[in-house]
This record gives sequence, C-alpha cells and structure tokens, in this order.
Amino acid sequence: MLRLAVLASGNGSNLQAILDAYEGGLLRNLQPVLCVADRSCKALERAAAWGLETVLLEGKHNGEKLSEALGRQLSDRRIDIAALAGWLSIISGKLTREWTGRMVNIHPSLLPEYGGRGMYGEQVHKAVLDAGEKQSGCTVHFVTDSIDGGKILGQSRVKVLKNDTPDSLAARILIEEHQLYPKILADLTDSFTAE
Ligand code: GRF
Repeated sequence: MLRLAVLASGNGSNLQAILDAYEGGLLRNLQPVLCVADRSCKALERAAAWGLETVLLEGKHNGEKLSEALGRQLSDRRIDIAALAGWLSIISGKLTREWTGRMVNIHPSLLPEYGGRGMYGEQVHKAVLDAGEKQSGCTVHFVTDSIDGGKILGQSRVKVLKNDTPDSLAARILIEEHQLYPKILADLTDSFTAE
C-alpha cells in the first residue's frame, strides 16, 4: 500500500471524498495516513473525526520555512503521494522538485485556463463568468514550480448556465471534483504499482 497525505487549508470536502473513496474500496493501492494543514480549518476536523493523523503547520512557518516543515512531515511519515486539496500556501520549488511525479493538486477550472497566482476560490469562477465562457470544470495535475502548470492528469467539464453566479458554478464543479480526484489518485497509484 502506498501512503497518502492530503494537504488542506479549507472546508476539506475533497479530503472527505478521498476518505469516502478509500472506505468504498476505490483507492486500491493507496491508504490515507496523514492530513497536513497550514491553518486551522474544517479539513483538520474532518481528518481527526475519521481517525487520520493531523498536523497543523502554523504561526512560525511561512514561505520557505513552511515548505521545509512540510517536507519534513512528509518524509518522517514515509508518505508516497501528497494530494493538495484546497491547500493555499505556495510550495517551494525545492520541495516540488523533490516530489516530482508524486505531488498532485486539484484546481476548479479547465487548466491551463484560469490558473496561476491569485486564481483560487471565487476569483476563478468570477473570471470564467466575466469572460462569458460556455463551460468550465476541474483539473487534477502534477504540482511543479509553475503554479497550476504541471502535467494534466484528468479533467471534468460542466456547462456554465445562464444564471450562474460564482457560488452556483463553484458548487456544481465541486460535485465533479469529488468524483474526479479519487479516480485520478486510484489510476495514478495503480500505474505506480504496475511499474
Ligand atoms: C476546491 O474547489 C479545489 O479545487 C480548490 O480548492 C477547493 C477546495 O475545497 N483547490 P475543499 O476544501 O476540498 O472543500
């Protein structure tokens, strides 16, 4: 079994979807063992309620220091795959290079559109609506030192509706995220163990 850490900063609904998928047997070769957060958040509560080990990297950690502390947590706990699920802090290039091919993220747009620095949360959906896009969606990709720029592993699409607000669009995309992320993690780790 490969060991999974989920990195979160917010509500943790993607974390929950991953935990549910594990319980449902979808993550055949991957076991959630750790949740790391960079701030106090609902995701940590969900993780603890599930019985996952939790680590809060807060306060004295910022910038490079946060990435160093994160890297130590991941290696101390012999993590194989790190899945960013609503994690908001920038991860240093040094750490992303050390984790090449083993660190993934989910982003609520059809990358490469509407990604990059500052494109998170409501900003993404507002930009999509302002541009009059007919569709949006979510993307799972490898994490590299280019923000939201790593190789795309999978996407799901949703139609943009006439009366959509950033909130309504975000909510519809989130439903797709909860399906897509566990599936991509399962496929990725199957490919590891087949090697
Ligand atoms: C999701 O929309 C994800 O794509 C983005 O942040 C949000 C996290 O939601 N990176 P949650 O904390 O998993 O509920």
